[in-house]
Amino acid sequence: MKLIQMLTLCLALSLSLAAPSHHKEDHVQQDEPQGHQHELHHGANLDRCGGMEFDAIAVNEEGIPYFFKGDHLFKGFHGQAELSNETFPELDEHHHLGHVDAAFRMHSEDSPEHHDHQFFFLDTKVFSYYKHKLEKDYPKDISELFPGIPDHLDAAVECPKPDCANDTIIFFKGDEIYHFDMKTKKVDEKEFKSMPNCTGAFRYMDHYYCFHGHQFSKFDPITGEVQGKYPKETRDYFMRCPHFGQKTTDEHIEREQCSRVHLDAITSDDDGSVYAFRGHHFLSITGDKFHSDTIESAFKELHSEVDAVFSYEGHLYMIKDNEVFVYKVGEPHTHLEGYPKPLKEVLGIEGPVDAAFVCADHHIAHVVKGQTVYDVDLKATPRVPVKEGSIAHLKKIDAAMCGPKGVTAVIGNHYYQFGSPMIMMMAKIMPEQHRVSQGLFGCDH
Ligand SMILES: *[C@@H]1O[C@H](CO)[C@@H](O)[C@H](O)[C@H]1NC(C)=O
Ligand SMILES: *[C@@H]1O[C@H](CO)[C@@H](O)[C@H](O)[C@H]1NC(C)=O
Ligand SMILES: *[C@@H]1O[C@H](CO)[C@@H](O)[C@H](O)[C@H]1NC(C)=O
Repeated sequence: MKLIQMLTLCLALSLSLAAPSHHKEDHVQQDEPQGHQHELHHGANLDRCGGMEFDAIAVNEEGIPYFFKGDHLFKGFHGQAELSNETFPELDEHHHLGHVDAAFRMHSEDSPEHHDHQFFFLDTKVFSYYKHKLEKDYPKDISELFPGIPDHLDAAVECPKPDCANDTIIFFKGDEIYHFDMKTKKVDEKEFKSMPNCTGAFRYMDHYYCFHGHQFSKFDPITGEVQGKYPKETRDYFMRCPHFGQKTTDEHIEREQCSRVHLDAITSDDDGSVYAFRGHHFLSITGDKFHSDTIESAFKELHSEVDAVFSYEGHLYMIKDNEVFVYKVGEPHTHLEGYPKPLKEVLGIEGPVDAAFVCADHHIAHVVKGQTVYDVDLKATPRVPVKEGSIAHLKKIDAAMCGPKGVTAVIGNHYYQFGSPMIMMMAKIMPEQHRVSQGLFGCDH
């Protein structure tokens, strides 16, 4: 198992600079009604980490998943619920309709008028949105747009070519599964024997997930086969939640390798060891050894949720809000006396910052704050930041590191590689997209 992971990692790392990998990330998802209407009007009390079953999930045009629950909506992998009608007001205009039962993002090259639209299913009706705007003549009856598909669905997910032979939508109701061919409108009833009844389904990073309760299973969209160790806990992979429940070391490692929740910080030290930080946890990779633990246990003073980390002369500089913590790399990591110190004193910059890195053999810290990159000469006293440039074409960077091959910038689930900080700033188009879970951490599913 370890060996396989390592091989995957080595392969991925060695290929990642040169080779195109795919990236198209869409997905969609959907889900079903569960009727906790009375508790739904108190969005502030909706806790996505409390073990909830979502009604529906669908990604928006930018690939950000929307998780529906009652009349509320969670956007992305963390954060508070908001009212769905703030984003999709028309969902409320039909008072006899319940909440969103199922949702998906259409993928159909043969029907450009539907392509990339978000479809929401409420009782007998279907709504089509594009960039949060309801399309003309919607809502329509499900039976009109998807003849042969029942009302009151539980879940739906798109299955574009070549995953399915033709562009297809998979609908779920109880244990009944329907494949709807977008072009011919032919309906095939399927039996997915090994699959639980899905209350939501979701295509994400080219994989298909069925959500049931607060768990999910990955499935083959054609056969319905569930392969691998499923179900898994939604809160471990798709929600950013502090640790709950006891886990074995291997489960921790696997979760950190495969989580889709964005990273807070990443760095590689002089020996090539990689440290990645996410919420309350971190993952380190030294040679072929993976290690994962809570930040609290290895970096006690820092506690959790770091903003940026860079490695310099055998130390990890960890930035959180307006403070810098410095740990000497070793077993255990030791916190340097006199720290934390104000960020303003250590780097001359006001927090919060998004990412920071030092490239090999240099003593310049590159600090990313929004679209701006600052240079700080670590050999100079006092430290004076110089504006190095602006990042024109990348959206907000979550984390970045620099190694012999250049800069790795992490945004959401993906990372991008650049020969140097200058190339990163000057890039006019987005370079090849790679997946963090597979490409950096060797997740094998
Ligand atoms: C949105 O939903 C809430 C709760 O269901 C309701 O109180 C509010 O009036 C709705 N707003 C609009 C603009 O429909
Ligand atoms: C795909 O569509 C073609 C017609 O365009 C049809 O003949 C074929 O049966 C479809 N394949 C499947 C698996 O539904
Ligand atoms: C799955 O759905 C069917 C109805 O379609 C129902 O009879 C069955 O009990 C459900 N299974 C579970 C485990 O809920």
